[in-house]
Amino acid sequence: MGAGNVAARHARVLSGFPDVRIAAVADTDVTRAATLAAEHGAACYDSHETLLDGERLDAVYVCVPPFAHGPVELAVLEAGLPLFVEKPLALDEQTARRVSEAVRRRRVVTAVGHHWRYLDVVEQARRLLGDRPVRLALGVWLDKVPPVPWWPRRDGSGGQVIEQAVHVLDLARLLVGEVAEVSAHESGHPPEHGETAVGAATGALLRFRDGAVGLLGATCLLGWKHRAGLEVYAEGIALQLSEEQLVVDTGEGRTVITESGDAKHRVDRAFVDAVLGRGQDVRAPYDDALRTHRLACAVARAAAGGAPVTLPDHDG
Ligand SMILES: NC(=O)c1ccc[n+]([C@@H]2O[C@H](COP(=O)([O-])OP(=O)(O)OC[C@H]3O[C@@H](n4cnc5c(N)ncnc54)[C@H](O)[C@@H]3O)[C@@H](O)[C@H]2O)c1
Repeated sequence: MGAGNVAARHARVLSGFPDVRIAAVADTDVTRAATLAAEHGAACYDSHETLLDGERLDAVYVCVPPFAHGPVELAVLEAGLPLFVEKPLALDEQTARRVSEAVRRRRVVTAVGHHWRYLDVVEQARRLLGDRPVRLALGVWLDKVPPVPWWPRRDGSGGQVIEQAVHVLDLARLLVGEVAEVSAHESGHPPEHGETAVGAATGALLRFRDGAVGLLGATCLLGWKHRAGLEVYAEGIALQLSEEQLVVDTGEGRTVITESGDAKHRVDRAFVDAVLGRGQDVRAPYDDALRTHRLACAVARAAAGGAPVTLPDHDG
């Protein structure tokens, strides 16, 4: 469902698996659906409803923009089908919560596109930290306005933290733990997009439940992707993580470890294996990704309202 950039990437990866056939593609822009469908010898539809009516499926990928989440997932779950959903889960928290409740009722396999969890360097960082608690986390997402029409609109993407920096927040949850409170502010709008556009820069302060502290900085004012990643500091160790590498410093010189895995391949393989009952390596099922989404929404709310937002220590 959704036949844009990220759907094309998943379709490319999936079509390389010997045990997967892409049966059909749906997009509200039927030309886009037809183009992607033709590349994979699949059927094409103009909506998720017509696709679900027309096909017998084993699983569905939902690759729609943030504003379109909700109805698509609920229909897939109503059909009892396993579900892979691209991040962010939605524009807001309520929509994702409704989907999460349906996931719980249906008990199907789910996965969310937090592929950073499959980076080799993330696994190495966890090993290097061992049981040393992280006390400080510094996250950044310094980038351009992505070239998709819905992105600069707040009611299209939800803003840069919900849409992009959510990868960094997910990693912070993995390496540091759950967040108890956030404060945040944002500044300006990207030029040419007007007052209703997303913020041009966001700065956030995070207090983790175990007392660790974190800072997040994001901007979409650049014409290029400058840097996106997370630094974590624990007693006697500094780690700098990105999709490309891990820089380790323990006071005896810096070691640079280049990412060697293929996280974007592994995230799809893990989902397919789980659907086939052959594996249990889904690292961000829907209910876990909901916690990351809830954190991103809290940062966005704090930035919009100017007051700190407390996150309850339960999921309800
Ligand atoms: N995990 C990652 O690395 C990664 C990378 C890129 C994009 N994404 C995420 O994937 C999502 C889509 O991004 P994109 O770059 O592919 O966007 P895109 O605009 O290229 O594609 C989205 C497609 O969804 C279609 N669509 C909209 N509403 C629909 C609906 N109700 N039913 C069916 N189709 C619908 C649009 O017509 C469009 O073709 C975004 O949320 C983005 O954050 C994730």
